[in-house]
Amino acid sequence: MAYQNLISEVKENILYLTINREKALNALNKDTLSELAEAIAYAGNTDEVRGVILTGAGEKAFVAGADIKEFADYNGEQGEELAKKGQNEVFNAIETSPKPFIAAINGFALGGGLELAMACHMRIASDNAKLGLPEVTLGLIPGYGGTQRLTQLVGKGKAIELITTANMITATEAEKIGLVNYVVPLEDLISKAQDILNLIKQRAPLAVSAAIKSVIASVNDADGFAVEIESFGKCFETADFKEGVTAFVEKRKAVFVGK
Ligand code: CAA
Repeated sequence: MAYQNLISEVKENILYLTINREKALNALNKDTLSELAEAIAYAGNTDEVRGVILTGAGEKAFVAGADIKEFADYNGEQGEELAKKGQNEVFNAIETSPKPFIAAINGFALGGGLELAMACHMRIASDNAKLGLPEVTLGLIPGYGGTQRLTQLVGKGKAIELITTANMITATEAEKIGLVNYVVPLEDLISKAQDILNLIKQRAPLAVSAAIKSVIASVNDADGFAVEIESFGKCFETADFKEGVTAFVEKRKAVFVGK
């Protein structure tokens, strides 16, 4: 797929999405968000894609936030619409995708950039990365789900501290509080994400999707346990379940087909 602000490439069943506005530190303007929405929908709908790695172009920024210049003149109604559309089409769409998304945080992940990383199912940061939600320095609050997802990931006290102080933290500090899964040298960032997805690629695709759905329900749904029970039951109806248990009994490696 050819985009203006996004590089999109599928290699060995992994979709690589690179936000490509390096001069603006990959800030998320409307066009970039639309392109992202399209790519996320594509990933969810094709069997060719088994996982997604999302990163930013260059070595300075993952994403430095929503595009401040674009919303500088907005009124309240436009601000609300910006948050609603972005959350529905991009941030929630990533979180509820049946495919695992890994954010490969290669530099600044600020504001909407950190919110984008937090919408992904896992986060790996390079050791030069800086993370924060600086919206209050602009007289705003996070609008792409940051108040909710940061609280889910690091707890209420730390979330309120980070959001109200607007402090940027290092990748190592982020790992310590559970905001990122791993910290690695920049040159190893993509290969670390590939290692995780290559493991996931060996697992039963429908079970992977059901697991993600059930985990996400634990934070977003009234009754995550009910979602888990239903998803668990559905797994029994898949060909991959039959293959998985047969392979176990026959002491061989399972070959999953995603059915
Ligand atoms: N929006 C638009 N442009 C941005 C941007 C953003 N979020 N972040 C950086 N840029 C642009 C700069 O304006 C600059 O462009 P010009 O060369 O045309 O002037 C270019 O990227 C390089 O940036 P700097 O010169 O500022 O680079 P620096 O190394 O001095 O500083 C930085 C880096 C600390 C990340 C700084 O750019 C910065 O503070 N950026 C803004 C971070 C921010 O506040 N993000 C939150 C946005 S609001 C939001 O996201 C709302 C929401 O939740 C929905």
